[in-house]
Amino acid sequence: MRWRKILVPLAVATALGAVVARAEEDKSAQSIEQYREALKDGNPAELYESSGEELWKKPAGPKNVSLEKCDLGLGAGVVKGAYAQLPRYFKDTDKVQDAESRVLTCMSTLQGVDVAKYVNASFGTPEKDDLNAIATYISGQSKGVPVKVSLALPKEQQMYDLGKRMFYYQGGSHDFSCATCHGEEGRRIRLQDLPALATKKGAGSAWTSWPAYRVSAGQMWGMQWRINDCFRQQRFPEPVYASDVTIALSMFMAANANGALMDTPGIKR
Ligand code: HEC
Repeated sequence: MRWRKILVPLAVATALGAVVARAEEDKSAQSIEQYREALKDGNPAELYESSGEELWKKPAGPKNVSLEKCDLGLGAGVVKGAYAQLPRYFKDTDKVQDAESRVLTCMSTLQGVDVAKYVNASFGTPEKDDLNAIATYISGQSKGVPVKVSLALPKEQQMYDLGKRMFYYQGGSHDFSCATCHGEEGRRIRLQDLPALATKKGAGSAWTSWPAYRVSAGQMWGMQWRINDCFRQQRFPEPVYASDVTIALSMFMAANANGALMDTPGIKR
């Protein structure tokens, strides 16, 4: 599927230099906030939501069936509220999965799709756009639903622990960890307030707002893409799409966010 770039006024976002005085920064952050508010009524992400729904319901793949029977954790075919409980453990795969990895499983088992092509495709390609759109649709069906991620099963707790370890793991050319940029409140880079992702408040605001439409890029990003880009910012090697380390980090953020209300699709700088 081809994506038409959605053009929205970028005056606010692009007029800003990387380094500006603090007072100006505050003013700009405020304008971005106002801009976000203004767009809430007509969030371009909604286009992705409806494309995702179409992809979900359209027969496809060698078996020519839709994804509608996909079990996202609440039973085959139940989409409403499912995202708010992901990542979670799935018996059939014996794995903890997030939305994207679960969709890949369903594409493979239900539709007979060879998903390697989707895993290996770069972000911005039609394959990844499809997955982002589907994740946007699924998450939108949890809008307003409290995050309720379980750590009751040993594999779920292990995934959380792995995510936590990864969050604090320092390495690479700059010796950064996720915590270097997201470890405490009040950090800012390029006018973005960086949430403290180990806290309920920070994780609560971040986890619940992805997939999000990125105004500066004119793109829809799922959490997989968000994490991938932060690995880049951390000067770490690119993680494999939907691999355990990415799911573990999501598990860490999602469980920390428990109780916060899902508010997707989000809108970001
Ligand atoms: C060098 C600093 C840096 C590191 C290290 C870093 N990030 Fe980020 N992160 C950012 C910036 C900057 C943003 C704001 C988004 C943007 O404008 O690109 C961000 C945004 C995010 C967001 C979205 C927050 C929101 O409120 O929407 C999440 C989630 C996130 N990062 C997770 C991570 C994870 C997980 C790691 C570790 C793998 C990590 N980040 C490592 C700089 C960093």
